[in-house]
Amino acid sequence: MKSVAVVGASGAVGDVMIRMLQERKFPVGAIKFLASERSTGKSVTFAGESFSIEPLSPRAFEGVDLVLSSTPASVSKQYSPIAARAGAVVVDNSSAFRMDPDVPLVVPEVNPHDVAKHKGIIANPNCSTIQMVVALKPLHDAFRVRRVVVSTYQSVSGAGQKGLYELQMQTLAYVTGQPSPEPVKFAHPIAFNCVPQIDEFLANGYTKEEMKMVNETRKIMGDDAIDVCPTCVRVPVLYSHSESILVETEGPITPEAAREAWSHAPGLVVVDDPQACQYPLPASAADRDEVFVGRIRQDLNRPNALLFWCVSDNLRKGAATNAVQIAEELLKLDPVGA
Ligand SMILES: NC(=O)c1ccc[n+]([C@@H]2O[C@H](COP(=O)([O-])OP(=O)(O)OC[C@H]3O[C@@H](n4cnc5c(N)ncnc54)[C@H](OP(=O)(O)O)[C@@H]3O)[C@@H](O)[C@H]2O)c1
Repeated sequence: MKSVAVVGASGAVGDVMIRMLQERKFPVGAIKFLASERSTGKSVTFAGESFSIEPLSPRAFEGVDLVLSSTPASVSKQYSPIAARAGAVVVDNSSAFRMDPDVPLVVPEVNPHDVAKHKGIIANPNCSTIQMVVALKPLHDAFRVRRVVVSTYQSVSGAGQKGLYELQMQTLAYVTGQPSPEPVKFAHPIAFNCVPQIDEFLANGYTKEEMKMVNETRKIMGDDAIDVCPTCVRVPVLYSHSESILVETEGPITPEAAREAWSHAPGLVVVDDPQACQYPLPASAADRDEVFVGRIRQDLNRPNALLFWCVSDNLRKGAATNAVQIAEELLKLDPVGA
């Protein structure tokens, strides 16, 4: 049994993390819930018991074996090393350590062995990257992926509780004929709109979110020769990110061969019956752990290219489920401590 701390327990990811620990029956001994002072005293129910959220502080990690952290990157940068020095293993959902060469970046369906290389911190990848690499890995193993052109349709819950609130309030104002609240979390109104900006722009014209997809894909797949060409878009959907993906492989690839590769893939479900209007949808993927793919079709001009549509719940597989799966991999390394 592990002594666990859930950091960022009041957040969108933290909330699902608490559910995932219970749903997956993670062997929890003691547990505590931490967030900022804004949430101190708020109550959380875990395994039928009520707990108060405590303020995050360096002393909060004493006696803790496993920290599941879902705070802004600046907070993680400060506290995750403190937790690791106190003897805990931190699974961190933020971007703080993802590209640190000393920190494994893990999607258990792709590179579970990297967990063993940790030095106290393991990073959970960006949500859009996680679902894409779960779909790409079987194709990479069978056909060697060389280039990926991806456009995302990312839900507002990807921007946390405040993102959800902003879409709900703007929608409410619209349907009740009230003036729309000013955008805070997003650069423009998100209700009834699409915003081709997630996070800040960099000097190269891409956003930070887009460059996360480029760099994290290479690190997780262990192949710096994979080119990723991303466009990340925020859409007025509450839960689940969708992605339109064009994948180019070294040799020829067909929809049938891709389906065959995907048929053995862990955590992936093919939903692809266009005549019956069956394909992955964010509304159907919400509250599910799998990555769903469909609309599988050959590139019209290239025998080594394939298009598909990929959907997954960003708070579950894109964050909390993946983090608890990493913790389960840790347990396999340390079964006695379990
Ligand atoms: N949302 C997603 O789909 C997703 C997916 C993958 C990764 N992530 C990453 O996961 C992290 C959390 O995201 P989220 O969507 O859950 O955001 P969120 O809903 O805004 O939650 C943020 C959490 O961090 C806590 N926090 C903020 N400042 C703090 C401080 N100074 N000290 C202690 N705790 C503090 C908040 O506590 P208070 O409520 O007390 O402020 C809250 O519990 C982010 O790094 C995000 O990039 C998110």
